[in-house]
Amino acid sequence: MAPSSYFLLAVFLALVACQANASDPSPLQDFCVADKHSPVKVNGFACKDPMAVNADDFFKAAKLDEPRNTAHSKVGSNVTLISALQLPGLNTLGISLARIDYAPLGENPPHTHPRATEILTVLEGTLYVGFVTSNPNNTLFAKVLNKGDVFVFPEGLIHFQFNPIHDKPAVALAALSSQNPGAITIANAVFGSKPPISDDVLAKAFQVEKGTIDWLQAQFWENNHY
Ligand SMILES: *[C@@H]1O[C@H](CO)[C@@H](O)[C@H](O)[C@H]1NC(C)=O
Ligand SMILES: *[C@@H]1O[C@H](CO)[C@@H](O)[C@H](O)[C@H]1NC(C)=O
Repeated sequence: MAPSSYFLLAVFLALVACQANASDPSPLQDFCVADKHSPVKVNGFACKDPMAVNADDFFKAAKLDEPRNTAHSKVGSNVTLISALQLPGLNTLGISLARIDYAPLGENPPHTHPRATEILTVLEGTLYVGFVTSNPNNTLFAKVLNKGDVFVFPEGLIHFQFNPIHDKPAVALAALSSQNPGAITIANAVFGSKPPISDDVLAKAFQVEKGTIDWLQAQFWENNHY
């Protein structure tokens, strides 16, 4: 091949790689503010008439500087997500944001975002965080983070954050690479599905007595993500 052909091949491969790595599709216009009342079913939300768009479509007085209540959460955390649902201007832009408050000894339990990588920074306190790689290795990558530290959770992998300090809350801010990252909390999905998964299935999967599964399924699996 001529050198120029190699160059074109490299550009082509780079473009293909970009496409394959992007979790949300790239926008085809400057913006596509979500029209949540549109009956049109598309991937994401239909676009509001661009002539009717104004600055408020890209704005939310989210008060993300203010602490959230963690006192009523069984796991001791409260996730405030700003996705395309809360901020219509995010539609098609492939990004969202969350404030996470942790009570002393509180945690954001093991969960995955099916559509997003997450980059998290600690604003206050200390967090023990980690993620586990996919099969067959299931390697845990974990770290204690202090104020100002940053950690990244790769797309789709199970991850958690725990505040190990017994007398101090913690706060983190996370950015996610999807307008709608989704969240699957492992315990809730497995033991709290409606209707429940057969205890025969779960007893074999978890290698425990059916009674243990029945007990787990009888618990209230509260959702800390909104
Ligand atoms: C999260 O915090 C908000 C604001 O403090 C509160 O209204 C909401 O009930 C809290 N959620 C949980 C699960 O405690
Ligand atoms: C999983 O572990 C095997 C054996 O140690 C290693 O060769 C492989 O690179 C690992 N895979 C990943 C994705 O870390």
